[in-house]
Amino acid sequence: MRIDIVTIFPEFFSVLDVSLLGRARTDGLLDVHVHDLRSWTTDRHRTVDDTPYGGGAGMVMKPEPWAQALESILRPDGSSTLVVPTPAGTPFKQSLARSLAVEPHLVFACGRYEGIDARVFEWAASRCSVVELSLGDYVLNGGEVAAMAVIEAVGRLVPGVVGNPESLVEESHEDGLLEYPSYTKPASWRDIDVPEVLLSGHHGRVAAWRHEQQVERTRRVRPDLLPDA
Ligand code: ADE
Repeated sequence: MRIDIVTIFPEFFSVLDVSLLGRARTDGLLDVHVHDLRSWTTDRHRTVDDTPYGGGAGMVMKPEPWAQALESILRPDGSSTLVVPTPAGTPFKQSLARSLAVEPHLVFACGRYEGIDARVFEWAASRCSVVELSLGDYVLNGGEVAAMAVIEAVGRLVPGVVGNPESLVEESHEDGLLEYPSYTKPASWRDIDVPEVLLSGHHGRVAAWRHEQQVERTRRVRPDLLPDA
């Protein structure tokens, strides 16, 4: 999978060299390129923002540097997906991570300030798919941290990135429920014992207990997930 990231803070993405994603890059499973939006500006001050029409606080990112950037990055055959992190986007869920993981080319547009001039997305819609997504109901300073979270969630679903694909199956959100609690040795630690059933070696009872735990935890912490689970 190829991933391009456009940002005015390329240094945010140094974490892409670490851990599983770092190895996926050196193994050639993820081909990630980070671009500085300012390299597509033409004025002496490398300006990327301006005041909003209609007034109000803050600045808006100018459309032309974005169009120049996207014209040079989007594939001409329309196969690219433009991902725009914004608190006004659709909620980012595991199901969306799964559908992005099968795309050949993701382009992340990281906005700052009050966002990017809305005409950029109208213009881009005839050249690629556009997905505006939100990490949650809170406001970050820009799209960079959200893009990084999406890249990690999507990247680990690309075949080969996670060594043991079985570990992707029994995770929170994969079957619509939260994950069951996990334990390792020792069986008794500071007077707290691992649940007896996990020591029984009885696969059917272990599976039933884990499912019960998933349902109980989901009911307690995220009852909104139950109808779809
Ligand atoms: N940019 C700023 N806040 C955001 C959020 N909650 N999700 C995605 N992108 C954002």
